Amino acid sequence: MTVRSLHKTSAIVIAAFACLHLANHLVSLAGVPAHIEFMKAARVIYRQPAVEVLLLLCVAAQVCSGLWLLVRGWKQRKGAVAWLQALSGAVLASFLLIHVGAVLFARTVLDLDTNFYFSAAGFHVPPYQFFFAPYYFFAVLALFTHIGCAVYWHLKSTSPRIRRLSVALPMLVGFVVSSLLVLSLAGKIQPVDVPAKYKATYSFFSTSSP
Ligand code: HEM
Repeated sequence: MTVRSLHKTSAIVIAAFACLHLANHLVSLAGVPAHIEFMKAARVIYRQPAVEVLLLLCVAAQVCSGLWLLVRGWKQRKGAVAWLQALSGAVLASFLLIHVGAVLFARTVLDLDTNFYFSAAGFHVPPYQFFFAPYYFFAVLALFTHIGCAVYWHLKSTSPRIRRLSVALPMLVGFVVSSLLVLSLAGKIQPVDVPAKYKATYSFFSTSSP
């Protein structure tokens, strides 16, 4: 198996999870209880030990193979789509490392239920919203952009207009989905009252005055 085919195979598993995962976060637009109910049902699938191990192995494979392809192809890369694919891939790789690391740390070390409140807490403890808004926004936008670029390379025999649309359309959808998710986490669409134990994780980073 080549590095490129490993990258494509793990991408299928991650994309399937991401569909379920982002749908779960979009359900928060109907209220946090709806999101938590959806998550309970979805966890029955992805929290199965075998499924979770496969998913985490795919994340590791995706990040390592992606960084390898990014560095190896640096000098040969030509054209806007190739660079957009590289940039969105680099954003996704950095996000996945931080995101999955943070989720696993919160679950195992902080003993937190990593539900909606875990992601929303940073938006409700100033000044962390200035980190978390672009962090989630660009991660979701990068995911859609990266998928659009992959489709572009598969449409070699179609017209340039259709190929350009295959990148532009996912980016537009990604922009809308990212905006909705960030607004939802920030409590700008529905009321969000983050429990104190989630906000308290940020006191770890603050210097308290005597
Ligand atoms: C606004 C965007 C996002 C938010 C708010 C978010 C939030 C979360 C939360 C709360 C969890 C813990 C889930 C649980 O405990 O059941 C999680 C896990 C995870 N997320 Fe995200 N996520 C976002 C985007 C993404 C994207 C774009 C990807 C992939 C490309 C991703 C990949 C993962 C993975 C792999 C896990 C670990 C699943 C597990 O092992 O339980 N997330 N995320």
